[in-house]
Amino acid sequence: MTLIPRLQLIEVHDQPWCPRGVRDAVTDLLQAVLTLVHHYGVAAPVLSSALRRSGATTVVDLGSGGGGPWLRLLPELAATGVAPDLVLTDKYPNADALNRLRASLGNRVRVEAAPIDAAAVPTRLGGFRTLFTTFHHFSPPAAAAVLRDAQRGAEGIAVFEVTHRSLAALALMLGFVLTPLAVPFLRPFRWDRLLWTFVVPVVPLVALWDAIVSCLRTYTPDELRALVRDADDWDWEARELPRRWWPVPVTCLIGYPKSAKERTMGR
Ligand SMILES: C[S@@+](CC[C@H](N)C(=O)[O-])C[C@H]1O[C@@H](n2cnc3c(N)ncnc32)[C@H](O)[C@@H]1O
Repeated sequence: MTLIPRLQLIEVHDQPWCPRGVRDAVTDLLQAVLTLVHHYGVAAPVLSSALRRSGATTVVDLGSGGGGPWLRLLPELAATGVAPDLVLTDKYPNADALNRLRASLGNRVRVEAAPIDAAAVPTRLGGFRTLFTTFHHFSPPAAAAVLRDAQRGAEGIAVFEVTHRSLAALALMLGFVLTPLAVPFLRPFRWDRLLWTFVVPVVPLVALWDAIVSCLRTYTPDELRALVRDADDWDWEARELPRRWWPVPVTCLIGYPKSAKERTMGR
């Protein structure tokens, strides 16, 4: 049960004034954590089945940051028999990290160099949209706009959130006090990160603050359902995906056009 009210506080790393070095350090850190712990392993079968049902062969990932879960998730999707092309995008692209990820994952992956706003995705980027650890950034009107934009131009959308509005999740976020131990190992190595971590501790403070605020902004399945209440030409499903080894579930919202279901059933 969620007892904590949703608070639309600001996260520092997605503010236009946040220095790029600090933003990239935070998204690189998140990518490293998501690769190490693989919180989104539970998302693979759910996303695989949504891609099959929608019939989409391209995933357009929005708010990709440093690449999030894709280093492990794309091979896992392939293991389920679904091997989509992947386009990585962000409003503030972390180009170094995304290009590194593309080099590791091969030529199914493309990096969009131009800034892409999740609420106004250009029509040339067709496919099934995903957002990992990003949907909580949007206030309810902005979140509704992201979903409406998907309904106009996408073959489906899947939102996954590893953050959660619960005391357990908030307590786990205190793990970000260990950020200074991780920063020297982030790749590519950059001296300025050591300055902004060990001399002026901006990176650890931003990482910790943003992690806590992320939890406080995360939508519950009921709140996600409320956002799509009137979007009845799509099939929607919002739920929590429990994990055996972690006290906090991954929350997800999946949607795709009803016409896609009829098409794939007719195959
Ligand atoms: C917490 S990071 C998540 C990064 C990655 N998906 C992951 O799971 O590690 C949130 C990302 O959303 C991006 N973002 C914020 N507002 C956005 C918007 N309106 N459109 C697209 N991306 C946005 C930020 O730049 C940041 O990279």
